[in-house]
Amino acid sequence: MSYTDNTVTDNTTTDETVIEVSGLHKGYGGTEVLQGLDLSLGPGVHALLGPNGAGKTTLVNILTTLVPHDKGTVKVLGMDTRTDAHRIRHRISATGQFAAVDEVLTGRENLVMMARLLGLRPRAARRRADELLTRFDLEQAASRAARTYSGGMRRRLDLAVSLIWPPQALFLDEPTTGLDTRSRLALWEQIRALAAEGTNVFLTTQYLEEADQLADQIAVLDGGRIVANGTAAHLKALVGSDVVRALDAAGTVRREAPTDGTAADLARVTADLAATDPTWRVELHRPTLDDAFLQLTGHAATDAADPTDSATDEHDMILETTR
Ligand SMILES: Nc1ncnc2c1ncn2[C@@H]1O[C@H](COP(=O)(O)OP(=O)(O)OP(=O)(O)O)[C@@H](O)[C@H]1O
Ligand SMILES: [Mg+2]
Repeated sequence: MSYTDNTVTDNTTTDETVIEVSGLHKGYGGTEVLQGLDLSLGPGVHALLGPNGAGKTTLVNILTTLVPHDKGTVKVLGMDTRTDAHRIRHRISATGQFAAVDEVLTGRENLVMMARLLGLRPRAARRRADELLTRFDLEQAASRAARTYSGGMRRRLDLAVSLIWPPQALFLDEPTTGLDTRSRLALWEQIRALAAEGTNVFLTTQYLEEADQLADQIAVLDGGRIVANGTAAHLKALVGSDVVRALDAAGTVRREAPTDGTAADLARVTADLAATDPTWRVELHRPTLDDAFLQLTGHAATDAADPTDSATDEHDMILETTR
């Protein structure tokens, strides 16, 4: 893919491993945050799921060569972060947990400035800025200072900046935390579109639903280690089979019976329940990623946001750290 006459970017996705981590240790002041982490990820969209303080940002910072690790091997796009940081940086892009746009500059000026810093000539920089403003639905706000942007607009501008030079791997640290539902859905669409174009994406999230919606593969980070890794379906399957729940008039769960989900088995299970109390209501419960996380980590999960975080949508499930 080429955006300027002097830009040569190989953006093809290969079958090679995109991220290869083995025996990774990282500590701060005597506290081990990452404790022997192993991870091997191919192309596609990968989500790292973990509660506050699990070490998600630490891992992203190590992968993007911003922070050195203590022990172990870390390779990104086949290159070692210790010896090849410079080459890695040329091939990846990242947006941080907190949007890093210049508040004083307008949206367009932010993009043009970054494009110039990346070596695009003035005219190519302006053209690329305009393409990205269109793509991220920021045309109307292009001439306004970024400090006047909403949280969702900032995140979109931040993402646009990280795509000036199409990366082979894009790292997104909690790309939608703090956004309302509409802004989150808009950003999900943008991330899906990037994935469809073949960009490898590594994102961190505390939202179970976000990992479920976006990622081909989900790694669960807990206690400094990857405690599970697989597709959402695989993680849910670890929890076990579907269950039929019987509830009384007050809505209290009175019985739970496993089922294989076939009509014959459901008829058998509901007949047993009806024989006990024909007034019970029954519902079929499929394991969710929430169940999987709970089972894998023993952490409590909640369907309410941290009450101190007023910007967070209350309908999203957020993992709660018990540390
Ligand atoms: N520069 C640092 N110096 C000291 N401790 C740090 C530093 N960076 C991170 N930590 C500690 O490492 C742990 C993991 O932090 P990290 O920011 O990686 O977690 P996180 O999973 O990204 O959390 P969040 O969901 O809140 O963003 C925390 O206990 C944090 O206090
Ligand atoms: Mg973080």
